[in-house]
Amino acid sequence: MERTFLAIKPDGVQRGLVAEIIRRYETKGFTLVGLKFMKVSRELAEKHYGVHRERPFFASLVEFITSGPVVAMVWEGEGVVASARKIIGATNPLTAEPGTIRGDFGINIGRNLIHGSDALETAQTEIALWFKEEELVSWEPCLTPWLK
Ligand code: TYD
Repeated sequence: MERTFLAIKPDGVQRGLVAEIIRRYETKGFTLVGLKFMKVSRELAEKHYGVHRERPFFASLVEFITSGPVVAMVWEGEGVVASARKIIGATNPLTAEPGTIRGDFGINIGRNLIHGSDALETAQTEIALWFKEEELVSWEPCLTPWLK
């Protein structure tokens, strides 16, 4: 079953949006299989955002993601990678559609509340980077027959 990696960034935690953000994925019908509240090390942040190493915003991005606790999560479900990104909205909260997390709660591109893997392959890499296999829990929600 398809899985994706999501992380509520330090601004989402500081602003008390953890429950609101998790609610959107839960009520959509996806299944939570991994969850941890953690401070991100510089090493993990630089690995996670490695593709942006040469971009002008790289330093501030690493600074931001390591500045406070984050909620790291793995969610499961059919089509979850693309759907989770749709629920997140465009990178810049100012242009993100209302109804998306970034569109509803953000105004600053640097503080855009949540990260979501952008493709199936990225999701697999990010899940392996953030979680140990034994931290992920496979289970069958009893609502499954109604949502599938
Ligand atoms: P990116 O992977 O392009 O966006 P997304 O999070 O939507 O997949 O960029 C990673 C993060 O880098 C983005 O969430 C916020 C930050 N960023 C900036 O601060 N300035 C920028 O101009 C861009 C493109 C991204």
